[in-house]
Amino acid sequence: MTTLWFDSHAHVDDEQFEPDQEQVIRRAFDAGVGRMVNIGCDRQAALNTLALVERYENIYGTVGFHPHNAKDLTDDLLAAARAWAAHPKIVAIGEIGLDFHYDFSPRPAQREAYRRQIRLARELGLPITIHDREAHREAFDILTEEGGWEQGGIFHCYSGGAEMAREIVRRGFYISFSGVLTFANAEKTRAAAAAVPLDRLLIETDCPYLAPAPYRGQRNEPAYVVKTGEALAALRGVTPADMARITWENACRVYRISD
Ligand code: NI
Repeated sequence: MTTLWFDSHAHVDDEQFEPDQEQVIRRAFDAGVGRMVNIGCDRQAALNTLALVERYENIYGTVGFHPHNAKDLTDDLLAAARAWAAHPKIVAIGEIGLDFHYDFSPRPAQREAYRRQIRLARELGLPITIHDREAHREAFDILTEEGGWEQGGIFHCYSGGAEMAREIVRRGFYISFSGVLTFANAEKTRAAAAAVPLDRLLIETDCPYLAPAPYRGQRNEPAYVVKTGEALAALRGVTPADMARITWENACRVYRISD
């Protein structure tokens, strides 16, 4: 049986892929990436994602408004997201959450957009992809207040510690690790990855950013998720083939895609 990897969080519609998107996607499939989920994090990205899932059998998508775009979320856009999410290959609401590192949207707008989209996920019965940057406590509390944990979902590009990772898992969510896992100075991230039960681990590129070693600093692309998967396999003492299978099954389970 061939080893296939699942990139659980990619932005292949990013403008950095404009010149060669088709080759990038082809390279991923050639490298053993069997499936990917593209993240629609604003209006244009959602439309791009819908086009990608129509075009490629092995690409699935999400729709939602990133905390950076929270200030732009209108009633009309929320209604549009509801309609986009009806597509059978739109598998989650995301990425949504809080980003208190950049604060590109004012915090009250971030909180409001996050709440409204958790409610949307509940209404639609979809899991949630969470972006949490330097907002751990509030990202947790709002999810609790809005009943979001019951939907299931993912803390993506995980940057917290081991203790928080255990708490997320206890509440039923999955945790996704990016190329940061391979960085020399990422001891805290590796400690968190060591603390997550195997059946809750996911891997992602979050491309075009955060390329894993040995590509660090370059444009990231889904083919490189293999490097993150291999690093995670070594960390957990399993073979790469087993880690591919484990993270594949986990991604299919959380996104409710048949494997
Ligand atoms: Ni992302």
